[in-house]
Amino acid sequence: MDKFNIAIDGPAGAGKSTIARLVAGALGFIYVDTGAMYRAVTWKVQQEGLLPEQETEVAALANRMQIELIPGDEGQQVIVDGVDVTKAIRSTDVTTHVSQIASYGAVRHLLVALQKQMTVSKGVVMDGRDIGTHVMPDAEIKVFLTASVKERAERRFKELENSGTNTLTLSELEQDIARRDQFDEAREISPLRRAHDAVLMDSTSMTIEEVVDEILGLCKDKV
Ligand code: C5P
Repeated sequence: MDKFNIAIDGPAGAGKSTIARLVAGALGFIYVDTGAMYRAVTWKVQQEGLLPEQETEVAALANRMQIELIPGDEGQQVIVDGVDVTKAIRSTDVTTHVSQIASYGAVRHLLVALQKQMTVSKGVVMDGRDIGTHVMPDAEIKVFLTASVKERAERRFKELENSGTNTLTLSELEQDIARRDQFDEAREISPLRRAHDAVLMDSTSMTIEEVVDEILGLCKDKV
């Protein structure tokens, strides 16, 4: 089978990561969660005691830190300067500040360059906000996955409750998701936007399996 690349973009909590991981597994491709890279920078910023507003210092830190993404069956493992931060980057503290860090041009420039390198040999399913528009404008398949804010908040709530890490109410989660959407859509550099050639999928009343099947269906003529 010839390898090809798949870009999956969409707002927070639309199910991109789960779906991208399952699609990658079905095709034997590598799954890359780019949100984890912005989260890794945010985690490091907090570890170093920097404020998210210190843009110059944040950019310098991003430049000297090392991020490794290790694909695994359970998802992607994230290592920052030798420390496994896979769980730590999902904290509420990181989630609250990540969109601000991700709005800095120097940080995006650096991470997008790393992401582009990962796609060169093809066979990658990458999820994020700007994958179809900036990171892989030539991806053979592009999907823009969305769902209503209410549905996305409910899914996140269940996910966090199941992992025993939830500290927020459903309505707080709904507000956080709406706030991040707004921040990601309004930022100047690479805002969250559907690529003109991306297939729009609204998963509000679809199961994970249905979305995965639909994406695999799009891949049929590539196989
Ligand atoms: O996907 P996830 O919700 O983990 O991403 C965390 C944040 O990272 C997003 O809210 C967004 O601000 C930022 N992000 C981005 N571009 C990407 C992936 C994530 O700006 N390609």
